[in-house]
Amino acid sequence: MFPALHAKKVLLGISGSIAAYKTPFLVRALINAGAEVQVVMTPASKSFVAPLSLSTVSNKPVYSEFVESEDDLWNNHVGLGLWADLMLIAPASANTLSKMSQATCDNLLLAVYLSAKCPVYFAPAMDLDMHEHPATQEVIQQLVMRDNIHIPAQEGELASGLQGVGRMQEPDQIVDFIEKDLAAKMPLMGQKILITAGPTYEPIDPVRYIGNHSSGKMGYAIANEAASQGAEVVLISGPTDEIPIHPAIRLVRTSTTDEMLESCLQDFDDCNILVMAAAVADYKPKNLKKNKIKKTENTSSIELVKTIDILQQLGEKKSNQLLVGFSLETENELANAKSKLQKKNLDAIVLNSLADKGAGFQHNTNKITFIPAKGKHKTYPLKNKSEVAIDILDEIKTMIDA
Ligand code: CTP
Repeated sequence: MFPALHAKKVLLGISGSIAAYKTPFLVRALINAGAEVQVVMTPASKSFVAPLSLSTVSNKPVYSEFVESEDDLWNNHVGLGLWADLMLIAPASANTLSKMSQATCDNLLLAVYLSAKCPVYFAPAMDLDMHEHPATQEVIQQLVMRDNIHIPAQEGELASGLQGVGRMQEPDQIVDFIEKDLAAKMPLMGQKILITAGPTYEPIDPVRYIGNHSSGKMGYAIANEAASQGAEVVLISGPTDEIPIHPAIRLVRTSTTDEMLESCLQDFDDCNILVMAAAVADYKPKNLKKNKIKKTENTSSIELVKTIDILQQLGEKKSNQLLVGFSLETENELANAKSKLQKKNLDAIVLNSLADKGAGFQHNTNKITFIPAKGKHKTYPLKNKSEVAIDILDEIKTMIDA
C-alpha cells in the first residue's frame, strides 16, 4: 500500500454512536500510517468514549465545545477546518449526517465541517433500519453529490443485537480505504522518477578526494515532493548529510561518478522521468594512489581525466523517458544552459546561477529558470527549496500532459 497518509493532517470528527468506542484504535491506525490527528467530538459522543483516551493516543487536546469552560478559550473552528488536509467523520451518526446535509451548526464538529475546505470522508454507523430508511439514504446520497466521500457501513452484528448493514468499518479498513482513495488521486501516481542528488567524490588516495560544495538539498526536496505526489521515487545520492523524509523513497547511496552512473543505469530503462540534480565531478585523478601521498615535494600535481558524463550518456540512451538536467552557471547563464540542453538531448534544464544571492549550493533557498526544449523559459523568484521542488514538478507535469 502506498503511504498516502504520510505527513497528512487529519481532523477526526467523532459523533454519538456506539462505534465511537473504536476511535482510539482509529487514531492509532491513522498515526501508524504517518498522519497527524486532531480529534473533534460532538457532546453526545463523549458518552461512548472518553476524551482523555483520545487526547492520550492523539497526543493533542481534544476539542468539543466552542468555548472551553476552564480557561474561556475560543476554539477556532475556521482555523481547524483550514488546518486539515482531510477530515474524517467516523462514526457518522444518522443525526450528524442529517445535520451535515442541512448545514445545521449546533456543535463544534458541525462548525468545523462547514468550515473545512479539504476532502471530507464519512463512515456511517447506526442500526440497520435507521441506515435503510429512505431519509438516511437520501442524506448519504446528497453528501456524496457534494463530493463528500462515503466509507460505506458494513453488514454484521449491531448493538441492538440485530444483524444487518449499519456497522462502521473497522479502523484498519477505514485507513486502507482512505489510503487507496488518496493514492488514486495523486498526480504522480504511476510515474517512476529517478532523481540524483548531492556531489560525487573522486578519490585521490585512501585519504583525499576531489569533491564540491553540493549539499544535496535540492535533489532531496524534489524526491520528497515527488513521493508525496504519489511517484515511485528512486533517489541516487552522492555523499551528503541529508536524509529522505518520505517513506516511499528508495535511497541508493553512491560516492563516485562511476558508481552514480551504474546505479542510474539499473533503474533508467523502466523509469518515466529522470531529474539529474547531482553536482557531478567533471574530472577525476587519472591514477588512484594506493597509499597516502606524502608531502615530500614543495609542489605537487595530480593528472586528471574527464569523468563520464552521466546525463549525456542517458540522453543518448533515452527512449520514452523525460530527461531534466540542472545547470549551475556563473556567467552567460541562459546561453550555457540552452547549449547543455541540446548537447545532452534533454527535455528541459533547470538553470540556477551563483550570481543570484541565495541560489545554488548549500542554501535552503534557490532561484531557478526552467527551460523546456520546446516553448518558453520561465524565471521564478527566490523560494525555499521545498517550494522550488513543487514548481519543478509542476513544470514536469505540464510537459507530461502536453
Ligand atoms: N552531469 C552529469 N555528469 C557529469 C557532469 C554533469 O550527469 N559528468 C549533469 C549534471 O548533473 C547536470 C548537468 O549534467 O544535470 C549539467 O551539469 P553542469 O556541471 O552544469 O555542466 P557540465 O556539463 O558539467 O559543464 P560545465 O561544468 O563545463 O559547465
